[in-house]
Amino acid sequence: MFLPCTLYIVLYTATLAKTAPIPLEMVDMSYVFDNTTLHWPTQRKFELFVLENGTQEEGYWLQIEEYFSGVHVGTHMDAPCHFAKGRWSVDQIPISHLIAPAAVVDITKKAEEDRDALVQVEDFENWEIVTGQSLDGTIVLIRSGWGKRWNDREAFTGTTGNDTTKLHFPGISEEAAQWLVDNRNVYGVGSETLSLDNGPSQELMAHRIILDKNVFGLENVANVDMLPIYGATLYVLPMKIGNGSGAPARIIATFPKILHGKDGKSVTERTLREIIIFNK
Ligand SMILES: *[C@@H]1O[C@H](CO)[C@@H](O)[C@H](O)[C@H]1NC(C)=O
Ligand SMILES: *[C@@H]1O[C@H](CO)[C@@H](O)[C@H](O)[C@H]1NC(C)=O
Ligand SMILES: *[C@@H]1O[C@H](CO)[C@@H](O)[C@H](O)[C@H]1NC(C)=O
Ligand SMILES: *[C@@H]1O[C@H](CO)[C@@H](O)[C@H](O)[C@H]1NC(C)=O
Repeated sequence: MFLPCTLYIVLYTATLAKTAPIPLEMVDMSYVFDNTTLHWPTQRKFELFVLENGTQEEGYWLQIEEYFSGVHVGTHMDAPCHFAKGRWSVDQIPISHLIAPAAVVDITKKAEEDRDALVQVEDFENWEIVTGQSLDGTIVLIRSGWGKRWNDREAFTGTTGNDTTKLHFPGISEEAAQWLVDNRNVYGVGSETLSLDNGPSQELMAHRIILDKNVFGLENVANVDMLPIYGATLYVLPMKIGNGSGAPARIIATFPKILHGKDGKSVTERTLREIIIFNK
């Protein structure tokens, strides 16, 4: 049957208009900022000082605080200029890079066996094989299961002290970082841990390689275990600090509720196959 092109368009839009919007699941991927928030040991902790919090003489309520903090504290962005001269600062990153699909690369199993485990090239390649998607145009999130340790400084960082040679947590290998920037165009790379590099790293090669390509980093990202490995959209909203090498960030993920399924199973319980079929 041959219908004029305009008729196809009319039929198509009529079909769209009848489609109910897909309800979205929303995940808050930022931790609260307070004076217990974890951070790289040499950064100044977050502190809130209350200036006013009560009824004023004039009869109205007033609450005002001031805060002091390193910029690399809690859930935050590493701007490319943090480790690469002349690259974008937080305020210079195009907003088109801040809203993008999340590619969740799971290394939970090897991180359980080795707390200094490294993401390897094959972890990125496996994500593409399993999802049938390219990492191009995504924000890569490394899922290590580390978020479960957030409330315990020693479990999360490897030490309760400030000695950065005693840190232990998973990260990205130099080879994997190099492969990613050489072969794919990603907007950002995020981790559940304190750093893109693993704890023992002194050279910080993952930071140096990734940020040099104007790709931003995200650290101490919360609730990564609540995302499907493919199908979520990330909204990365760092404070717009002029010339800043980093900033606290509110990160939100959304994905179609249907990924949870009518059976009420969570995304982590669902098989990858079900998720992929939905996304086709
Ligand atoms: C942390 O903040 C709480 C109030 O939120 C305060 O009671 C406590 O004294 C603070 N601790 C430090 C070490 O500043
Ligand atoms: C201000 O006072 C209110 C009411 O007493 C309290 O709930 C709130 O936590 C206080 N805010 C701060 C920052 O201390
Ligand atoms: C770590 O550094 C902070 C801030 O400089 C300091 O308050 C704290 O006591 C230090 N902790 C240890 C265990 O030395
Ligand atoms: C960034 O720093 C330069 C000087 O190095 C200054 O001229 C410029 O105004 C600063 N930009 C912002 C947004 O603060």
